[in-house]
Amino acid sequence: MTSELITSKELIKMDPVFGQHSFDDHEQIVFCNDKDTGLKAIIGIHSTVLGPALGGTRMWNYKNEWEALNDVLRLSRGMTFKSAITGLDLGGGKAVIIGDAKTQKTPELMRRFGEFVNGLSGRYITAEDVGMTTKDMDTVREVTPYVTGISESKGGAGNPSPVTAYGVFMGMKAAAKFQYGSDVLEDKNVYVQGIGNVGEALVEHLVNEGANVTISDISQERLEEVRNKFGVTIYGGNDIYSEAMDIYAPCALGATINDETIYKLQAKIIAGAANNQLEDENKHGGILKDRGIVYAPDFLINAGGIINVYAELENYDRQEIMRKTENIYHTTLEILDHAKVNDITTHMAALNIARERIATRKRENSK
Ligand SMILES: NC(=O)c1ccc[n+]([C@@H]2O[C@H](COP(=O)([O-])OP(=O)(O)OC[C@H]3O[C@@H](n4cnc5c(N)ncnc54)[C@H](O)[C@@H]3O)[C@@H](O)[C@H]2O)c1
Repeated sequence: MTSELITSKELIKMDPVFGQHSFDDHEQIVFCNDKDTGLKAIIGIHSTVLGPALGGTRMWNYKNEWEALNDVLRLSRGMTFKSAITGLDLGGGKAVIIGDAKTQKTPELMRRFGEFVNGLSGRYITAEDVGMTTKDMDTVREVTPYVTGISESKGGAGNPSPVTAYGVFMGMKAAAKFQYGSDVLEDKNVYVQGIGNVGEALVEHLVNEGANVTISDISQERLEEVRNKFGVTIYGGNDIYSEAMDIYAPCALGATINDETIYKLQAKIIAGAANNQLEDENKHGGILKDRGIVYAPDFLINAGGIINVYAELENYDRQEIMRKTENIYHTTLEILDHAKVNDITTHMAALNIARERIATRKRENSK
């Protein structure tokens, strides 16, 4: 597929990996190929300073390898900062499998992928992400111990999505406290974009709190299912970004805050589960700040899932998982205050604190 994009002469000029815009001094990038199963995967290890690089595997029908590489570079970097800010002794990694999870995912392919993970001897530990299930992780577990997110019946912590949703809810409440002086979300108009595993669980928390919830998704079936369950409103327009709302909760894919959407946004708060919500974290983070829109950094408030899988490595129980996840409320408030005091974006405030923790550990490790 690459040959359609560039000629070999151009390839030399382009620095295909280390020269990419999204390359951020990643420690290791592993390209995995298996002819028999059709596996084409990339594992990105951004940092192992705080511990083994843990992050999920995404299976997606990428248009080309550049898209897959860009995704794994961005996602693995995000995991480094997510674990650092959450206080976990984990580095940042992620994997992508190129292909359609509905038609191309087989147990053989998952096992072969697991063997590649195993070959890294624990520098990278995988888990589920978009296109993956706990059952897939159980299959990976057959060939490597370096996997989390396996089913409870096999000793795992089970589905991380409800925990992620609870953390997002906590982060959203903290953002409301900061923006409105109260964290009560009753009567607030909240738009949840993407009502998959996390989005649906978030809708439940919001409905229980008395918020006015509007949902959007590309799947009409999901929309009807969630509406029938919770009595929420299905978004009927064609430009969600221009709608009058209090809170925008992106829970589908990343980069929805971009040049096209950012000046249309009417929300006073952005708090959702999607990874890498800002297409350009400096530029778009800055515009949100200037527009007075409180952005609860994605990698901070969607950390419930990693807290959940970390329990499998550290052997802590559900109560501790929920306590750590609830703490996202306090961390979010701290970050929002830190950003205000220092007149920087909330994203930068969170990054600075995460980077400081990594730098301190690096100094300790080198002693
Ligand atoms: N599952 C977790 O624990 C977890 C943890 C951290 C971050 N995240 C992130 O949160 C997001 C959601 O995760 P999930 O596990 O719920 O995924 P999911 O695949 O279960 O749900 C995603 C939903 O978004 C919908 N969608 C896709 N494109 C859309 C669009 N353009 N507009 C509206 N809806 C759209 C899909 O139809 C689906 O219903 C992802 O970005 C994921 O990386 C998830």
